Amino acid sequence: MCANTARNAPLNNGLKVLAVLGFPNSDGTTAKLLDSFLASLPVNAEVERYDCYKNSPAPCNDCRYCHYADGCAYPDLDNFYQNLENSDVLVFATPVYNLSFPAPLKALIDRMQRYWAARFIRGVRKPIKLKKQAFLITSCGSDSQKEGEMLEKQLKPVLTILNATLTESIHCAGADYNRPIEDCIKAAAKAAERLSQQ
Ligand SMILES: Cc1cc2nc3c(=O)[nH]c(=O)nc-3n(C[C@H](O)[C@H](O)[C@H](O)COP(=O)(O)O)c2cc1C
Repeated sequence: MCANTARNAPLNNGLKVLAVLGFPNSDGTTAKLLDSFLASLPVNAEVERYDCYKNSPAPCNDCRYCHYADGCAYPDLDNFYQNLENSDVLVFATPVYNLSFPAPLKALIDRMQRYWAARFIRGVRKPIKLKKQAFLITSCGSDSQKEGEMLEKQLKPVLTILNATLTESIHCAGADYNRPIEDCIKAAAKAAERLSQQ
């Protein structure tokens, strides 16, 4: 391949982005914020989506299979785990439900327990080798940013066992009062654009 061809060839080692959809409304605020983020990713980004409502994960029942084995006793998340381990960027998009994550997303987060067990029960230094940047996008009904910040607090410890760091959060308040969301849409786009500048 000549140098010119090589320069113009599509990048096949693109930025792997895993988007975790924690919302049920495909045309709601959270969906719009996520769309804005995804539309502004670098051109070489490859996006996988995991829709927690369409593929509701079984809840973790603390069966402790992962205390002894590298994996989970339940196969429903096998594909998800593979995408998670191979991704460079994680983006969680979620409404606030009762100061927490909607139940299907909470179930998904609890199912990360296999990586906690790998690290702290089985002594694996880095259960997930590939370092990741994480983004959290939340929408809440009330006018308080604090609701989204509560989800941030819950997510951060889990991210550490996934070898991920929370790069940025976008908390969009006031959905139940139909507050304008343009600034949040722009903030979501800007967060994704910054990935091109690294
Ligand atoms: C079950 C349920 C619980 C909710 N709990 C909260 C809450 O604790 N705090 C809050 O500000 N809004 C709460 N809301 C409002 C949602 O956060 C709000 O409607 C959501 O951000 C809209 O996002 P969407 O348009 O993507 O569906 C709740 C809504 C539902 C359906």
